[in-house]
Amino acid sequence: MTAADIPVPKGMRYDERRQFLLPQGLVARHLPSHPLFPRPKRTSQAVAFDEMSGNTTLGVHMSQVAPGGMKPGHRHLDEAVFYIVSGHGWSELKQSDDAPVQRVDWKAGDMLSIPANAWHQHFNGSADEPALQLAFKNTRLLRKLFGSRDFVYANEFRLADRYNDEDDYWDSRTELADGYIAQNRIADVANVPLRDAPDAGRLVSMEKYRMGGHLMLDVVAVELGRKGHVKAHRHLVEEALLAVKGHFRTLIWHENGREELIEWGEGDILFPPLNSWHQHFARGHEPVRYVAVRNVFLNRAFGLDDHEMGTVLPDRYPDVLEPDLDRDLPPRA
Ligand SMILES: [Fe+2]
Repeated sequence: MTAADIPVPKGMRYDERRQFLLPQGLVARHLPSHPLFPRPKRTSQAVAFDEMSGNTTLGVHMSQVAPGGMKPGHRHLDEAVFYIVSGHGWSELKQSDDAPVQRVDWKAGDMLSIPANAWHQHFNGSADEPALQLAFKNTRLLRKLFGSRDFVYANEFRLADRYNDEDDYWDSRTELADGYIAQNRIADVANVPLRDAPDAGRLVSMEKYRMGGHLMLDVVAVELGRKGHVKAHRHLVEEALLAVKGHFRTLIWHENGREELIEWGEGDILFPPLNSWHQHFARGHEPVRYVAVRNVFLNRAFGLDDHEMGTVLPDRYPDVLEPDLDRDLPPRA
C-alpha cells in the first residue's frame, strides 16, 4: 500500500515530496499509537510534527525502525536528539571514516544525541516489534539559512570539537560552569534525578542538558511536584514539550486575544506557539514530568544565556552614545 491509498486524517496533511504525514495544531496525542504513513525513501513509516504551531526552525519526526531492521547509515550537519517512544535497539556512531563504530543500546524512555555530521546508523533490536524513535532536529533552519540540501547532507567538514571518536562519548557526564550537564545519553529520562529550581516556579525541579555538543538544540527535563507549576513565561524559541510522566494542564495565551487551556499527559507532545505566554500546571497526586527540546539559536546569536524562562530581546540601548575624543573634526561640506 502506498501513501496515496491512505486517507489523510482530518487536521493533517501529506507532503508527497518529503513523504511526510504532517499533523497541524498545538498538541499531538499518544505518540505510541499515533498514525504513521509509509516513507519509501527511508524504507520507514513516519509522521513529522514540523508544522505544529506553525514552527519553522524545530523539526520533530517520529519514525519506525522495522522489526529486525535498520535505518540507512548517514551523516547530516543538523543537530539531532532522539527520544525512544517504544521498542529497543542500538545505534552505531563514528566520526572519522576509518574509526571503529561506537555502539549504544537504547530502549523506550531513553534519550540520546547524534553529534552534528557524525556518521550513525540505527538498528532495531527486536525481530518482532517495531521501534519508534522521536527525533528533534534543527534541519529546517539550516536548510532555510543555507538554501542547500547538500550543505546539510553531503558536507565534508567534520566538527571534531564536538565529537572526535572519544571512547566515553555515550557514558560521559560533565557539569558545566553555566549549570548545564553535558551528557549524550540519558537513560530513562522520566526517572533521572533533577535539581530543585525554585526560580522556575512552585515545586519545580529540573536539569538542563547540552547533548551532542549541540549549540542550537537545548534539552531540559522538568518535574512538577503535586500542585506545582512553572511560572508563566514566553520566549523567542520554538519548543516541543514531551510529557514523560503524569498529566498537565497548560494555559497558553497571546496578545492577539487567543487563549487555550490544554489538558495533556504522558505520551503527548505540546508545541506552545512562538512567543505566546504559557504556564504548565501539575495534575493528579504524583509528581509529573516533561522534557522540552528547543531551538535556541536566537538566544545564542544575541548572546543571551537565559534560555529557560526566556528573555525576549536584549536591551542594546548603549549608555555611551559615542566616544569622547579630544580632537578637531574636519568641517562638514
Ligand atoms: Fe516554555
